[in-house]
Amino acid sequence: MLEREFQEIYGKINLLMKKALENSAHPYRTFSLASLDKEMPKLRTVVLREFSFENSFLDCHSDIRSPKVIEFKKNNKFSALFYSSEEKIQLRFNGKVEIFHNNSITKKRWKFITPSSKRCYMGPFSPSDHLEEYHSNIPENFKFENPSKKESDRGYENFVVIRCHFDELDYLKLKYSGHLRCKLLFENENINGVWLAP
Ligand SMILES: Cc1cc2nc3c(=O)[nH]c(=O)nc-3n(C[C@H](O)[C@H](O)[C@H](O)COP(=O)(O)O)c2cc1C
Repeated sequence: MLEREFQEIYGKINLLMKKALENSAHPYRTFSLASLDKEMPKLRTVVLREFSFENSFLDCHSDIRSPKVIEFKKNNKFSALFYSSEEKIQLRFNGKVEIFHNNSITKKRWKFITPSSKRCYMGPFSPSDHLEEYHSNIPENFKFENPSKKESDRGYENFVVIRCHFDELDYLKLKYSGHLRCKLLFENENINGVWLAP
């Protein structure tokens, strides 16, 4: 059982994450997601697509061909970093990733993705492929058109949900009167809090 101050922090984070899911301009709407490529940490910005404290996970979407998915398949440990300069709150989640591909979760998500976002998954190249020429291949009179059903189905084949199951959350609130830092530990149904030196 969390003591009162930890419960307040939990409630605050829950509210901020809910707002981030509703508002694309919210500072927590995007975050830095880290994987490990052999010994080397790799970071990239991704969009928050789902968050659940009850089930201790957060989601982002990606392309199965991307290096991050390949890295997570080899080593599923992740770190995810959020910062809001308005709130002066940094959140660092750690845990293990699960990749969903062509299952009931991805099917449901795909239905709510806008046609322009679906386009991201339909490119002939794998994300991060080396390209000799790119801009010169875009016709000047290029006009965006919604993808056909066939194109959309092809995009779905590349679409994955990266589910980040967190077991640890490092919370840091910057304050003039003294910074506040704690760690929330998630173990099965239990959540425990410990105070840390900021
Ligand atoms: C604001 C912003 C949001 C992004 N959101 C995503 C995202 O949700 N999923 C994704 O795969 N890439 C996203 N990207 C691109 C990644 O940061 C990254 O460049 C790309 O996915 C290739 O990463 P990788 O080579 O590590 O796999 C985003 C980039 C920016 C700048």
